[in-house]
Amino acid sequence: MQFDHKTGYARAQCEWCVASGSYGQRIRRKTVTDDFSHDFGSFNGRTWLNCAHQGPLPRIAAEEAREAIDWKIAPYELTTERFNSVPARLKSALAQLVGASENEIILGNSASYGLHLLANGIPWRQGDEVLVVAGDFPSDILPWLRLEKQGVRVRLLRPQSPLPDPAELRGAISSRTRLFCTTWVHSFSGFAADLDGLGSVCRQHGVTFVVNASQALGARSLDVRVVPLDAVVSVGFKWLCGPYGTGFCWIKPDLLESLQYNQAYWLAKMTADDLGREGGEVHLPEGLPTARTYNVFGTANFFNFKPWAASVEYLLKQGIERIAIYDQRLVEQFVSGINPKKYDLTSPLSGETRSTLVFISHRDAMHNNEIHLKLKAAGIEAAYRRGKLRFSPHLYNTSADISKALAVLNAI
Ligand SMILES: Cc1ncc(COP(=O)(O)O)c(C=O)c1O
Repeated sequence: MQFDHKTGYARAQCEWCVASGSYGQRIRRKTVTDDFSHDFGSFNGRTWLNCAHQGPLPRIAAEEAREAIDWKIAPYELTTERFNSVPARLKSALAQLVGASENEIILGNSASYGLHLLANGIPWRQGDEVLVVAGDFPSDILPWLRLEKQGVRVRLLRPQSPLPDPAELRGAISSRTRLFCTTWVHSFSGFAADLDGLGSVCRQHGVTFVVNASQALGARSLDVRVVPLDAVVSVGFKWLCGPYGTGFCWIKPDLLESLQYNQAYWLAKMTADDLGREGGEVHLPEGLPTARTYNVFGTANFFNFKPWAASVEYLLKQGIERIAIYDQRLVEQFVSGINPKKYDLTSPLSGETRSTLVFISHRDAMHNNEIHLKLKAAGIEAAYRRGKLRFSPHLYNTSADISKALAVLNAI
């Protein structure tokens, strides 16, 4: 997709435009802008370019959160039917999002939740090795470090770029390597990993491939039936526009079956209705654990899971591919509009490694924190991470938001 900043038109050559019959036509920027921004709040006039920190709730999800509060104000509204349908609805939306089946989705409260299920559940052997990437988000490193007490060695990869390419991973794998965990989109650099390439290397070497998709899902599509990965975890509160305290995990069925069952939650097998029955003998569940076995406790988390389900359904309705194209158009406007005499773009300029997280650094990097504060004073919310400025637009942003940020940045 080429974006012409002078005319404000985009020339469409993408799946979405082909599907909508507008291939090769000029599309008004406004038409695209209007698609999503009205579905979100006004941000009180501020410009939220920090989705990599927190994604906003769409209006429709905020309504569902209010309804969840109404249910709790009058608890007879918390019916068994609702108790069951809130997690079921969320699982259905998340399954659709990643191409899994509903009964393969594990509901969590973070990315760390799923990573801990794996770290605590895999039957480790003395001398097993886990590969992680130096400089990755702490959630991707800490759960494995705990295993060192059990004789598992955690080895940090130090690739040329923030994330390793398949050849670097291949070179790092040893006969001891059991698992490789990486983020898909790197929180502190904006680089996106080549999941297909890394996953293929892992498959060739019998290494379990675990991906943290927290900075990607919602802004790029994933199909776990196609990409060679063994587990994916994600938070729900960034690009999936859910409340804080949400997350999920998908684990490939054969890996799930091999996990050592390390928790026993009554709602994994029973429902509140079972409590009314005579008897009340409690037994450990029989048979192999399923994804449901591993759900976070408090599965009918009305305040969080009801609005999050609405957010994911909203994103699915808009189409993830379509959102990805829209987001990349905003990124393109940003990276091509920044004054290269003043700023270095430190995240990828183009191509597969470019994500929706854009990093820039003033030629005099000492100024970055100061610029961050100036942007804030001008009503523009970006992030200051590891000494650089991070901009992360998503579908609720418009071309005008990007122009506003560029105007402030380039005037400095
Ligand atoms: C890649 C990544 N993973 C995870 C998190 C959050 O971690 P957790 O859900 O484990 O608290 C963040 C940011 O908050 C992140 O950028």
